[in-house]
Amino acid sequence: MALDTHREELAATATALARPGSGLLAADESTGTIGKRFAAIGVENSEEHRRAYRTLLATAPGLGEWISGVILYEETLFQDAADGGSILDLFKAQGLVPGIKVDQGLEPLAGGLPGETWCTGLKGLQERAARYYARGARFAKWRAVLRITADDCPSELAVRENAWGLARYARTVQEEGLVPIVEPEILMDGDHDIETTAAVQEWVLRLVYEALAINGVFLEGSLLKPSMTLPGAECLQRPTPEQAAEFTLRTLQRCVPAAVPAILFLSGGLSEEEASVYLNAIHQAVGVAPWHLGFSYGRALQQSCLKHWAGHDVVSGQQALLARARANGQSARGVYVAGSEPSDGKSLFEANYSY
Ligand code: 13P
Repeated sequence: MALDTHREELAATATALARPGSGLLAADESTGTIGKRFAAIGVENSEEHRRAYRTLLATAPGLGEWISGVILYEETLFQDAADGGSILDLFKAQGLVPGIKVDQGLEPLAGGLPGETWCTGLKGLQERAARYYARGARFAKWRAVLRITADDCPSELAVRENAWGLARYARTVQEEGLVPIVEPEILMDGDHDIETTAAVQEWVLRLVYEALAINGVFLEGSLLKPSMTLPGAECLQRPTPEQAAEFTLRTLQRCVPAAVPAILFLSGGLSEEEASVYLNAIHQAVGVAPWHLGFSYGRALQQSCLKHWAGHDVVSGQQALLARARANGQSARGVYVAGSEPSDGKSLFEANYSY
């Protein structure tokens, strides 16, 4: 089996990504999503601007101290940097392992409840994975999305379909030497309480790991990217960081096999500072964990960077990025002092978020 020839490399890649005190920079916004980010700072969504912005990320001095890997969008994986060479090589020169988003977005789930989706991208995936590996990518990401609503979402159909899709994807990319990031995101939309999220997330994770087992996914060469266990954004009872940490750890300890090297949280609409403070609280609560607990943040690493850059100020954008990278690197060791790094206070929550 092709997977057998890759086991050692997959485990080594996953371990490199799970480096203590580090996490991932999710810079794999699709062209449409980065367009929304650029619109907010008055920058036109052209290939030149995307190149300039992602070159800024790749050349932020010292980024590799806190960031072990970067998730790229296909365009960036094959794109030249602003002054020649490839953006990929700039990230690699900083010691970051490059990865690639391989899902092709969400579609309405026939037979599901209103608003439910399934994640597309399996057709031709193995060939694409081989091409991405040849270019230098060493891991992949697939984002499946579930929502919690008062009218019974997620349905069993949605949970099973999304778990199965994640498992088919994970097995397929492992055959080509890419470590799969398994991302079953539970959206923060809604007013449900934290106990409800915990119950749904346990159900989802149990079915995800069952599907991974049926598909023979090599867990030591895989990573989990979950949301933290939090109440819906409109729930009036807000948890303290300590309560959020307690629920998140309980959920993960009940469901995630110890063979998985790392759990890298998504930020999911938390503000930059919240994302750091919550991860820090998880570390302070955990004692000894079987997995590395880190981050794979998109919005919570890039929000102030984008604002400071505003299409022209590279140095200021890089300083903002490095500040949040440092904060999260410290959180990933449980030593972050809240407020000790600058951040954008804005809530990054967007209803019905698509990536
Ligand atoms: P956020 O941290 O902005 O939620 O995004 C991370 C990500 O990669 C979602 O797939």
